[in-house]
Amino acid sequence: MRFLKKGEKKKPDPPSDPAAKAHPDLKVITGSQVSGRQSRQPTPPQQQPQQQQQNITLPNIKYKIAVASGKGGVGKSTVATNLAISLANAGATVGLLDADAYGPSIPTMMGIQEQPKTSPERKIIPLVRHDIKLMSIGFMVPEEQAMIWRGPMLHGAIRQLLSDVDWGELDYLIIDLPPGTGDVALSLTQALPLTGALIVTTPQDVALADVRRGVAMFERLGVPILGVIENMSYFLCPHCNEKTEIFSADGGKNTSERFGVAFLGQIPLDAEVCTAGDIGVPIVAGHPESPQSEAFGTVAAELTTVLEESGEEDELTIL
Ligand SMILES: Nc1ncnc2c1ncn2[C@@H]1O[C@H](COP(=O)(O)OP(=O)(O)OP(=O)(O)O)[C@@H](O)[C@H]1O
Ligand SMILES: [Mg+2]
Repeated sequence: MRFLKKGEKKKPDPPSDPAAKAHPDLKVITGSQVSGRQSRQPTPPQQQPQQQQQNITLPNIKYKIAVASGKGGVGKSTVATNLAISLANAGATVGLLDADAYGPSIPTMMGIQEQPKTSPERKIIPLVRHDIKLMSIGFMVPEEQAMIWRGPMLHGAIRQLLSDVDWGELDYLIIDLPPGTGDVALSLTQALPLTGALIVTTPQDVALADVRRGVAMFERLGVPILGVIENMSYFLCPHCNEKTEIFSADGGKNTSERFGVAFLGQIPLDAEVCTAGDIGVPIVAGHPESPQSEAFGTVAAELTTVLEESGEEDELTIL
């Protein structure tokens, strides 16, 4: 240890933790401050509708849609990614926001992992891949850092991904949430009035309770449910295209009927869907004519119909 001489100023500590690699325009507190502050900050009370705090409006984005599920691993990110590309293939302008701080998978699934640049107006410019504007917490900070965020930290990051990003004019902003009913969903609904939420589920009867939890959370937060998407619904034989119902049939459909929400379609359980995500070229981008991509296209078309019928569109401000 060396003591400072009289009049000598202390040099700033060199960056020594993974936060050093965080995006320079990420204003949420980083590095050791994150863990230090995080341990002193109590997590805010969960699931209280606080619409009065919603002061991000994003008027140039027509539909802001969260993709959620009651439990993990059901295919939210896969659905969010392929749905976004299906909507773009149908002519829409689409942004995809990966709000899963605890396991951002959109960078891998879209095959891009780099730090976004900043405009002269100090707005973060989303990356573009497969015609989709992309932002992810994974582009901004190393995964191990975001993993420890809770409450206020997470809230700050979500707000910044919405308001400090130059999204431009979009028809859709699809927002991929982490599983369950936690801080991110709360922060998002507190920050921005959403057009609605999509619930992804698998067909088993046991998934019913998870869907119920998801639906209940969004109802409490005052966010309309736009529909249920059943993923891994059936196995499609790659040789003869025969469908095999591996799990109980139509669980998602029955569930959506039970909750009185729209059923937007079924996505097959398929090795190609999984591989495509792993290699960073989602199936709808790599094989747009495949039956799997058609299934995503059907979901996109159904969603469009639901939105048109419900008239839940925000005004598109022409600048
Ligand atoms: N229809 C499908 N057919 C085959 N594999 C699939 C399908 N949907 C998703 N998968 C695979 O299942 C795994 C989990 O999918 P994904 O990451 O999309 O789920 P998630 O709900 O976003 O998970 P998490 O809750 O961890 O965020 C991934 O490996 C993905 O490629
Ligand atoms: Mg995911």
